Amino acid sequence: MITYFMETISKNKVYVTRKIPEPGPSILKKYFQINMNPKADILDRDTLLENVKNVDALICMLGDNVDSNVMDAAGPNLKIISCYSVGHDHVDIYEATKRKIIVTNTPNVLANTTADLTFSLILSAARNIVNADRHVRIGNWESGWSPDLFLGYDVYGSTLGIIGLGEIGTLVARRAKGFDMKVLYYSKNRKYEIESELDITYVPLEELLQRSDFVSIHVSLNRDTLHLIDESKIKLMKKTAFIINTSRGKVINEQDLISALKNKLIAGVGLDVYENEPISKSNPLTQMSQTTLLPHIGSATFMTRSRMAEVAANNVVNFFNGKGILHKVN
Ligand code: DGY
Repeated sequence: MITYFMETISKNKVYVTRKIPEPGPSILKKYFQINMNPKADILDRDTLLENVKNVDALICMLGDNVDSNVMDAAGPNLKIISCYSVGHDHVDIYEATKRKIIVTNTPNVLANTTADLTFSLILSAARNIVNADRHVRIGNWESGWSPDLFLGYDVYGSTLGIIGLGEIGTLVARRAKGFDMKVLYYSKNRKYEIESELDITYVPLEELLQRSDFVSIHVSLNRDTLHLIDESKIKLMKKTAFIINTSRGKVINEQDLISALKNKLIAGVGLDVYENEPISKSNPLTQMSQTTLLPHIGSATFMTRSRMAEVAANNVVNFFNGKGILHKVN
């Protein structure tokens, strides 16, 4: 039985668009003919289209634009697209579904790591960590300490508004309790059990924006959440409040955010994600002192990336060995 299974699946070809860590490659090599980009850098389009030819499975990630052209180039054998990420907006899900191609992701394993990063952005934004670090490095501190140096805002005891109480949102709420924060949340569906377990309060989005000192976004990107936060929503916020975004950049209308920051409608932002990534040096967000900016590193720890590689690889193995499709998103 086992021999039959090995023989059957070993004919299948898997392409991995960028180098992923162990144990991903070892798991895949055990069962499939695997071809993996030896570099972690994004492939140019022509190479991607060439390398996906005749594959049965594709492992891809953020920045790879897996659209109908990639699916055409792969041809009719392509049965599964396994995302090395929880977000799957880099795949044309509509097109994949139309072609009966299964799309999977890597939930659960990266939630705590992303919640940690969210909290580091809250703390950095509130306490000017990045600006203060730069101040020391460039020698400005040599002119002396003063009592108004880098005054910031308290995180402990403040109000955190969480938009989207999924896995990551819930873990951010847990961390907030350790800082004695009052936690409000807005989500498509109310989560009564989590409300009572963590003593957090459901409020409509508008009320959340009005009452929060920190607004942290944890929704996935879809038609309903595209530009969920725009000028009209930002105007509801306190002038001393911060927006933190570790979900997807397109949830915020970035032009509206930039003008809100210019006009001091809010105190600042901590961002790990942007409307169009990567952002360039000329993006006005990079010129402002009220912004803490990261290059989309929410899940970037050695341990988590390794767990993500394991899940992404096992999603392909489980699909072909008939053990059931886990983490399916379409
Ligand atoms: C995710 O897993 O969605 C992260 O944002 C990295 O792509």
